[in-house]
Amino acid sequence: MSDIHPVDPAFAARAHIRKDDYQRMYARSVEDPEGFWKDMSGRLDWVTPPTKIKNVSYDPKDLYIKWYEDGTLNVAANCLDRHLEKRGDKTAIIFEGDDPNESRSLTYRELHREVCKFANTLKNLGVAKGDRVIVYLPMIPEAAVAMLACARIGAIHSVVFGGFSPDSLAGRIADSGAKLVITADEGCRGGKKIPLKANVDESLTRPHTNSVETVIVVRRTGGAINLQSPRDRWYHTLMEGQSTDCLPEAMNAEDPLFTLYTSGSTGLPKGVLHTSGGYLVYASMTHELIFDVREDDVYWCTADVGWITGHSYVVYGPLANGATVVMFDGVPNYPDFSRFWQVVDKHQVTLFYTAPTAIRALMREGEEPVKKTSRKSLRLLGTVGEPINPEAWNWYYRVVGDERCPIVDTWWQTETGGILITPLPGATDLKPGSATLPFFGITPAIVDTDGKPQEGACSGNLVITDSWPGQMRTVYGDHQRFVDTYFKTYPGNYFTGDGARRDEDGYYWITGRVDDVINVSGHRIGTAEVESALVANHKVAEAAVVGCHHDIKGQGIYAYVTLVAGETGSEELRKELIAGVRKEIGPIAVPDFLQWAPGLPKTRSGKIMRRILRKIAENQPDQLGDISTLADPSVVKSLVEERLIK
Ligand code: WT7
Repeated sequence: MSDIHPVDPAFAARAHIRKDDYQRMYARSVEDPEGFWKDMSGRLDWVTPPTKIKNVSYDPKDLYIKWYEDGTLNVAANCLDRHLEKRGDKTAIIFEGDDPNESRSLTYRELHREVCKFANTLKNLGVAKGDRVIVYLPMIPEAAVAMLACARIGAIHSVVFGGFSPDSLAGRIADSGAKLVITADEGCRGGKKIPLKANVDESLTRPHTNSVETVIVVRRTGGAINLQSPRDRWYHTLMEGQSTDCLPEAMNAEDPLFTLYTSGSTGLPKGVLHTSGGYLVYASMTHELIFDVREDDVYWCTADVGWITGHSYVVYGPLANGATVVMFDGVPNYPDFSRFWQVVDKHQVTLFYTAPTAIRALMREGEEPVKKTSRKSLRLLGTVGEPINPEAWNWYYRVVGDERCPIVDTWWQTETGGILITPLPGATDLKPGSATLPFFGITPAIVDTDGKPQEGACSGNLVITDSWPGQMRTVYGDHQRFVDTYFKTYPGNYFTGDGARRDEDGYYWITGRVDDVINVSGHRIGTAEVESALVANHKVAEAAVVGCHHDIKGQGIYAYVTLVAGETGSEELRKELIAGVRKEIGPIAVPDFLQWAPGLPKTRSGKIMRRILRKIAENQPDQLGDISTLADPSVVKSLVEERLIK
């Protein structure tokens, strides 16, 4: 039996959604999705309100997903213009820098002005509807300005996380065919500088990046950079004298809003494409109801805009709701381990949303750095990105929230656009470690490996049987890959790639990825990408990468490397290989463990048996299962003996 934390009646009394609301609305949302989602579209301002609500086929032979297809709207106008009358002087963004002495804020009116000016800047540089723009910026207000300016003129943004290397950036530029890149001279995180502009320069020397005509540079640190004329332009110079009027482009609900690259089990990262109307209905509605947002809340999501969480729950959801949002450009342990809670006190944050990996890292430092702050303003806590272990959940609840704040453990994915499985804080009794119940309109199911739906309490593979408005529409430039990745495994369903258990109360417990994706600190790393970065070194014959247990990161990266004949594994070579991964992908993909493998366990047809490698990396050598089908079972013995986690 797991712990249960019943809904706090005082919280429920003021909440948007209570228990009976949840039951009633959920039932309607799945029995009459057209009617339900038509009503929900009313939360946005449309140029032409939609009359066609849902038009979806999950048939792998003819797959399409359309929501609100005859409606037109502008996403930026919904995030800004419509608030001006009532909320013009309300704070939209509170910016908190890496340096605790740096903060500033923008009202809705100020943000609107900046966005209009930057939208005009983009237009003057020849950026038009449908063009792609890469955003490679720190967590500064200009990142939100850039995204919203693209949305205003109908350009498709693709934000690339500042921690990605020049090679990764180049891959995304090449795939998107972007015309323009916006970056900063440098980023700074935890007191360290990140050479963003230099990274852009390097990426633009790589093949297939010559679609880029302009690089706009925001001055962030004032560090020295090379400005290559006429390609590179300062943001502040371009913005001078721009008009603050810019008519928002009326976009079709199904026009693309952005692409965001994410790792899968095979190949290079794919451009997840989200569109305008359905995405914004879903992002804003989930944000309002799951965080129970009220007019006077100060909401802080610690995610970087380089990830989907930063898109839906730093920028689009909160701003569409007219909320006040904190944008933080720092890290939890700089200048010290109290930083999160100091920021909470400084800006009187009421709603706080972060990742389990951050909670575990802070938990290791003990209670004192938390307890010396007040945190009285907090009224709700949230987590996202990976399963939260009950121990971390309880610490978050007890130490951070003083047993006063409900915790929403929100399960979702880059592909889903918004949260799918989650508690509603005024309606759902909580169980530490469970993401609990589906949001409105979401129909999860658990299937066995043959795709057979399981009933009642069970475990297996998590699928969603029907569409919701925030769902991704395609893989940019490769619709077949979209179909193959998500709709072929269990025909008629969207396959999440996650395993899950459902308990006797219908609560979902996400158990983690069942494919070759590793979740490191809430970031998705494709094993194939790390393997290809390793074999790029000519001394490497073969590499296999699997996930392993990691106390802080949730999962770590464990690599098995076979060298070409004549090479031997040395500490020096290990460092060289690690540097190679850092260069090709970025620091987040660097293996935690690298084991020299004389050979890899393969079937007679040459397929690497990852199941065995996973068990060895998990230090469970007695649970390897049947190894008799291996071409050479003897390789296993030495891999087990030399394993790095014992
Ligand atoms: C994968 C998606 C969507 C936000 C950040 C990650 C894992 C996400 C939870 C949670 C257990 C979770 C899943 C999912 N995940 N949230 N609350 N409990 N697992 O986005 O990079 O697209 O990764 O993150 O494995 O498939 P992402």
